[in-house]
Formats: sequence, structure tokens, C-alpha cells
Amino acid sequence: MIPPLVPDAFDPASAAFVADPYPTYGLLRKLGPVAWSPRTGQYVVSRAADVDAVLRDRRFGRSYLQVATHAEMGRPEDAPHLAPFWDVVRDGMLDTEPPDHTRLRRLVAKAFTPRRVEGMRASIDATARQLVDDLVDAGSDGSVVDLKPVVAEPLPVSVIADLLGVPPADRHLLRPWSQDMCRMYELRPTPDDEVRAVQAAEEFAAYLRELAAQRRARPQDDLVTALAEVVDEGERLTEDELVGTCVLLLNAGHEATVGVTVNGIAALLAHPDQLERVRADPALVPTMVEELMRYDTPLQLFSRWALEDADVGGVPVARGSQVALLFGSANRDPERFEDPDRFDVGRSSNPHISFGAGIHYCLGAPLARLELQALFAELVRRVPRLTPAGEPRRGRGYIIRIPETLPVTVA
Ligand code: HEM
Repeated sequence: MIPPLVPDAFDPASAAFVADPYPTYGLLRKLGPVAWSPRTGQYVVSRAADVDAVLRDRRFGRSYLQVATHAEMGRPEDAPHLAPFWDVVRDGMLDTEPPDHTRLRRLVAKAFTPRRVEGMRASIDATARQLVDDLVDAGSDGSVVDLKPVVAEPLPVSVIADLLGVPPADRHLLRPWSQDMCRMYELRPTPDDEVRAVQAAEEFAAYLRELAAQRRARPQDDLVTALAEVVDEGERLTEDELVGTCVLLLNAGHEATVGVTVNGIAALLAHPDQLERVRADPALVPTMVEELMRYDTPLQLFSRWALEDADVGGVPVARGSQVALLFGSANRDPERFEDPDRFDVGRSSNPHISFGAGIHYCLGAPLARLELQALFAELVRRVPRLTPAGEPRRGRGYIIRIPETLPVTVA
């Protein structure tokens, strides 16, 4: 069975598609479980049930190294100048498969416990309060404020820094490293993206090795110490795995959270009735946060490789093929969500896929929810009027969906 071709509008390099991919997703879902994208060389999966099934299907894996070596695949990642980047990333659990993944996830979960997350609540609430103070101050004279640097970026960065134990003086290093590394997760990184990603990976890895050495010498109550102690206890978390895990936590742990915040505020500004509704009833903040994650999905696409001959919804997919799972589309699938294009802060049944499914299900979901609920509760409670001051500007990134700016006035 030959799958249909994706509609021409499915073009991750097109600004129009990136600005609003959702109508194209509607066309894709009508085509069947799988379509073929000649432009990206991938099978494209757009329906919620199929995305969910592939994520849970062990015939598919995250790393193509399970099916072939870099050289056999002729992948650009094989380029020697990119080796330092992949060397750092490879040992984070996200790019491993069982049994390595099982061992790594168990070890990290032992250090990154619910107690540790709950212990961050007070400082997350305090930071959220401080950021909303900053926003109100910055906008008190009627000037236009960009919400992204003032409110959306600082909370996830300070949370991840606290979690890892990065001292305040070094925190300014984290976001540029993460942004530069995340350029490699878009479908077509440019040569400049590659140079910056390699440099960021090397600098961040060196920084973490030094931090881990310091924590071994003088343990503290932070995750780097906990992970280092797991190594010292004779468990098999190597130094490279420790570094790969911390890099993963930095990147996975805050880019998407920034995305939900900026996209979420943009969605609320575009639906003033919903903003008023949650203002009148702040108990809706938790369901609102879930709806923000569904309605404008922060991580639009995750890929898998067929580790053996397999199928998606009955359509054969040969071993070695790459499958693109469209999370943004799954989250607007009418088979899963009632009236999926409606933005509803009180949506009661909301089984969105934004945190993934199966063995790689987001380890940081409880922390992300804690952060987002704290920040949005504070915003809703304290900022009486938030008015858009121009269109949010989109960059060229498709997979990580974060507008570059979100200008508003505050009153
Ligand atoms: C994995 C989404 C925040 C840590 C994932 C995956 C998704 C995801 C979709 C699975 C990827 C795949 O299956 O290929 C998100 C979203 C977030 C968020 C939307 C924010 C709104 C966080 C935070 C942390 C975190 C705050 C930790 C501090 C991780 C880790 C994994 C992961 C460690 C890998 C799990 C594994 O491979 O077993 N995340 N994440 N994430 N996330 Fe998150």
C-alpha cells in the first residue's frame, strides 16, 4: 500500500505554514494514517490514535543508531564537525533505547524525585510573583513590554538552574547554550546553527564536568550532587551519562515551558472572553494550563525510526524509515477532542499528547505543570489588563514553537 503524498502546504520551511500549521494538519488527517513527505523524506503521522500508538510501539525507536550506523544512513550527523555535539547529547536518556534507557531513567528518577519537585514549589511561587512585579513595573508608564524576556524565559531558566545547582552568577549562560543546542532539533539546521550548537555543547559539557567535580568534593542539596552520588554508589551512571542527562534536563526542561508560556499568553489575548472567564474563576487555572498545552502545542513534531518492518494504522513502513509524529495535529484531532479548534479554558476532558506517551513520556511533566500553574495564576490574579501591542513575531523554527517576541501593554 503506497501512502498518499502530504499536501503541498506541509512545508516546515515555509513561513506561512509555520505561522499557522493547523489548517494543513486538518488536510493531513483526512488523508489517512500515514502520508509521505518527499520534501523531508519522512512518513508523516497526523491522527491522535496513530501518534499515540507509534510512541508506545517498540518496533519504533528514537535513535536511528538502532537500525544503522551514521555512515550507513549517510546522515549529516555523521559529519566529523558535528561529532562533539552528538557525543554530548547521545548519553541523555531521551536518545537511548532499552535496556540503557530503562537503567538511565530509573537512576535519574531516583535523583529527580517528586519530593525534590514539591520542594521547589515555594521558590517557584516567589519567582512567579517577582516576575509579575517586574512586568507591572515595566509597563506602568504605558510602554510596550515584550513578555518573552520579561516573564516567559526567566522562570524556567531559574527553575532548571535551582534544580541542577547552577550558582546564580552563572545562570545567564544557560539559556544561550540551550537555544544554540536546540537549533539542531529543527529539520534543516544551517551551517551557522551547527557551529553554534557544537560550541554550546562543548562549553556546557565542560561546565557540567567541572560542576560535578565540585559537587563530588563538596556535596550540596541539588540534582548534580544526587546524580554524582548515584555514580559514586557504584550504579552505572557514567560521567558522560551524567553530563548528557544534565544537558537533556536543561534543554527539554525549559524550552517547551517558555513555548507554552508565550503561545499561551498569545492564545489568551486572542480569546479575551476566555481570559475574563479564568479571571472570574481562578480555580480554572489548572484546566487552562492543559488547554494552553493542547491548543498551541509547544513541541510540534517528534521523529521515530522503524527498527524493523512495521506498520502505522495498517500502512506498511519498512525498517529504517523515519516517521514524523505531528503532536500539534494530534492535539487538534476531532476523533479525540470535542470541537478541537475551540479554545476552552475549562475543557474537562483533555488527553493531550504534549508530554508524549510510552517509555519516553516526559519525566519533567509535574515540574512543568507546577511552573506554568504558578506563573499563570499570578498573571491572571495580578494583571488587570493585558493588551496586545502588535503581532507576535515568529522565527523560522517549526518543531520548537516559540514566537520571538510578544509585545503587550499592561494596565
Ligand atoms: C521527554 C515535552 C518540560 C524533562 C519529553 C517528551 C516530550 C516532552 C514530548 C518525549 C519526547 C519523545 O517521546 O520523543 C515536554 C513539554 C514540557 C516539558 C511540553 C513543558 C511544557 C520538561 C521539564 C523537564 C523535562 C520541566 C525536566 C526538568 C524531560 C526528560 C525527558 C522528556 C528528562 C526524557 C524522558 C525519557 O526519554 O524517558 N518531554 N517536556 N521536560 N522531558 Fe519533557
